[in-house]
Amino acid sequence: MTPTGTAFYVTTPIYYVNDAPHIGHAYTTVAADTICRWHRQRGERVWFLTGTDEHGEKVLRTAQAAGVSPQAWADRLVAEHWKPVLATLDIANDDFIRTTERRHEVRVQRFLTQLKDAGHIYSGDYEGPYCVGCEEFKLPGDLVAGTGEHAGLQLCPVHSRPVETVAETNWFFRLSAFAEPLLAHYEAHPTAVAPHSAHNEVVAFIRSGLQDLSISRSSFDWGIPVPWDPSQVVYVWFDALLNYATAVGLGDSPELPGGSKFAGTWPADIHLVGKDILRFHAVIWPAMLMAAGLPLPGQVFAHGWLLVGGEKMSKSKLTGISPDQVIDHFGVDAFRYYFLRAIQFGQDGSFSWEDMTARYTAELANGLGNLASRATAMVGKYCGGVLPAPGAYANADLALADELLAAVQDADAGYQRLDFVEGIGAVKRFIDAVNLYVTEQEPWALAKRGDDPVARERLATVLYTTCEALRAIAVLHNAVMPRAMGRMWSAIGAQEGLGPIGEQRLADVSAWGQLPPGVTVTKGAALFPRLPEEAPAGA
Ligand code: MSP
Repeated sequence: MTPTGTAFYVTTPIYYVNDAPHIGHAYTTVAADTICRWHRQRGERVWFLTGTDEHGEKVLRTAQAAGVSPQAWADRLVAEHWKPVLATLDIANDDFIRTTERRHEVRVQRFLTQLKDAGHIYSGDYEGPYCVGCEEFKLPGDLVAGTGEHAGLQLCPVHSRPVETVAETNWFFRLSAFAEPLLAHYEAHPTAVAPHSAHNEVVAFIRSGLQDLSISRSSFDWGIPVPWDPSQVVYVWFDALLNYATAVGLGDSPELPGGSKFAGTWPADIHLVGKDILRFHAVIWPAMLMAAGLPLPGQVFAHGWLLVGGEKMSKSKLTGISPDQVIDHFGVDAFRYYFLRAIQFGQDGSFSWEDMTARYTAELANGLGNLASRATAMVGKYCGGVLPAPGAYANADLALADELLAAVQDADAGYQRLDFVEGIGAVKRFIDAVNLYVTEQEPWALAKRGDDPVARERLATVLYTTCEALRAIAVLHNAVMPRAMGRMWSAIGAQEGLGPIGEQRLADVSAWGQLPPGVTVTKGAALFPRLPEEAPAGA
């Protein structure tokens, strides 16, 4: 539980349904899921929300081009792609919100009315550049000059496409009034935007001055009607940001289930976002909450982009790689592991099949996979598949238990600050230490000494120590690789001896000697099998 007593509440951005997911979207969702699984194993009450962003011109135009209604389009994309990808990625979300759901729409309308009644909304004229790809009103300084086929035009730097000019009478939110309160908030809470470079960017942006924000559109009708002016629909970002609060009951009276859900969940502890949508989350969203007198989120963390050819991977630029393409080749656990392990969270990273293959082979197949198969095979061969009881511990065994203690502390510290490279790396260092231990203790040589009672006892201790280390590794890597670690947990007899892996607590993981001698150990199929010779076509 967080200091306020509410659940540990984590969100992903809600994804546009104009297209199917690519691995950039999967990256955010896997990171959020891994954080949530870690905190569940810390024994915290966790709430994990993801979902889809379905209104606005981008989705409308995509549906029109396909000749279907935007609702039918959104329904199809959610059913065929956005929900199934969660199962593909082993995501354990608690809720999935769609912005076309009634529970969202009524709460958005109520929120808007509240803000208008409090004087934060007024009518005005808007004229300026708009990027439909970003669904964002742009400032002239944000744009870049076009070249080639776009010569003479102003382009959105993210989409490399010309912006459009919007000129409408709209409803405005008095965002400018919140510049000072936001600066004061970020001064008092310097980690509310992370990493630190993102904090600096947001503070500099606010200091440069905030303009009021147009929060409605009148030239199309695919959106939530403004409650007092049905000729306008709510601007898609104003609608979308509210999902984090509407999904947990925003504005419901305390006696209703939604009201008590809100009291037990809000504020969010972590909003994970890509760096392209940082300002929406760290400027507009907290200002909206301030206007409504609601508590602000604990942290907005902006991660980097997955790059292809040095540019943000995107479907619109035809560089999107689908999660299935990568998972069919490497498996879901390696997918989850690789992106968090290889890219410092908060920085950009390039995806390449070669790098992923190298790390898969070194760290997963040869590192952890080989350790698990060696240990389980030896218990099978030398002990008839029954975990032996350890004899007296030697220094080498005790040293491993000490290394485990350090690994748990380092991993927890890493995960707490969303430093996955360190969180996962601390566990990897322990795996390396266990592999070295097995190599040095040479249990196969002890086994060759036949019935020599000293050698038998030492063999039992070494095999027990190795399996006990695997028990801890399974719990520590369960957040990032739940499927493979569940299999390893069963293989070493821990399911039989200790119950479900998800119920193991991180606070207890370093207590040595939990695996009960006598449980059945089975070798089973390789956790990280040898890769197919060929990379997928087009890779
Ligand atoms: N609908 C908005 C978010 C609204 S949240 C209230 C949106 N959707 S999106 O589908 O375009 O992007 C969702 C997330 O995916 C963003 O965090 C974005 O940064 C992330 N990514 C999209 N492409 C990405 C990469 N190539 N790499 C990493 N993340 C990327 O924005």
